[in-house]
Amino acid sequence: MLTTFFESRSNGYSKQRAPTENGGLHALVTQIRAVGITKIFQAVDGSEVVALDGLDLDIRPGEFVCVVGPSGCGKSTFLSMMAGLETPTEGTIAIKDTVISSPHPDVAMVFQEHSLFPWKTVLHNVAVAQKARGMPRKQREQRAREIIAMAGLSGFEDKHPCELSGGMRQRVGIARALAAEPEVLLMDEPFGALDAQTRKLFQEELLRIYDQFGKTIVFVTHSVEEAVFLADRVVVMTFRPGRIKKVFDVPIERPRTLDILNDEIFQEIRTEVWESLKEEASLAFEALGNRAGRCK
Ligand SMILES: Nc1ncnc2c1ncn2[C@@H]1O[C@H](COP(=O)(O)OP(=O)(O)OP(=O)(O)O)[C@@H](O)[C@H]1O
Ligand SMILES: [Mg+2]
Repeated sequence: MLTTFFESRSNGYSKQRAPTENGGLHALVTQIRAVGITKIFQAVDGSEVVALDGLDLDIRPGEFVCVVGPSGCGKSTFLSMMAGLETPTEGTIAIKDTVISSPHPDVAMVFQEHSLFPWKTVLHNVAVAQKARGMPRKQREQRAREIIAMAGLSGFEDKHPCELSGGMRQRVGIARALAAEPEVLLMDEPFGALDAQTRKLFQEELLRIYDQFGKTIVFVTHSVEEAVFLADRVVVMTFRPGRIKKVFDVPIERPRTLDILNDEIFQEIRTEVWESLKEEASLAFEALGNRAGRCK
């Protein structure tokens, strides 16, 4: 069922692969530019939480970037700012030279929690972006049905989110984001709710979509293996406040299948990313331990 996920789609998107090596036209073009991003939240007790501190990142058109970092380092905050749902305290994020201050029509987001409209059916959840764009009802429902079928959810069009499993809800969330036909797809731990086998199938399917349509994807995950499997570059963030610690290139050819997990180069990069992340994860672990101690 999942093997057909989105693969039959063909709608005129041009393949815009950004090269991972130096040179080439796309290396000179930036699709997303984050400059000096700092985000300070006001906590409920009035104290300030510095979620992000001076983060700079350029992402090329058609690039697949994965972001890893310990819990609470600001990954979701960063994605929300790229989606125009949060504003930086300092700094700017631009999509193709337009500074983002509200949701951008070329950007779609798959949230950490599926965030479907509970009162809408699967069909209407998936069709929501085309409705907002003014696409006629018949056309948008036909398009939504096609995408639902490709997501392996045929027969569930008239169900509500509460009638679906966690994995199915997440598929609806991904289908909804892709139905919007965005240039930039932001994905916040989209596969976290899936069982291990389905997660692997979704990873392969996402790469198929990526190879076919060449969208720019920014993907947050806690899995180093998932990050290296999917990405052109893996960004490791520091534990609080969130900064970019290191960026790893993944010069593994595409198309990729799960077979590359056994390749030496894959395993080397995964180890390097994990070594870098481990230090930050330890700091997060200690911080949580200290806080738990204070709760006694
Ligand atoms: N609305 C808010 N008000 C106050 N603090 C917030 C708010 N949103 C996020 N934070 C804080 O900002 C920091 C970063 O949060 P964020 O959700 O971006 O982390 P994350 O890296 O996505 O974590 P996780 O991996 O657990 O999803 C955390 O310390 C969090 O408590
Ligand atoms: Mg998060």
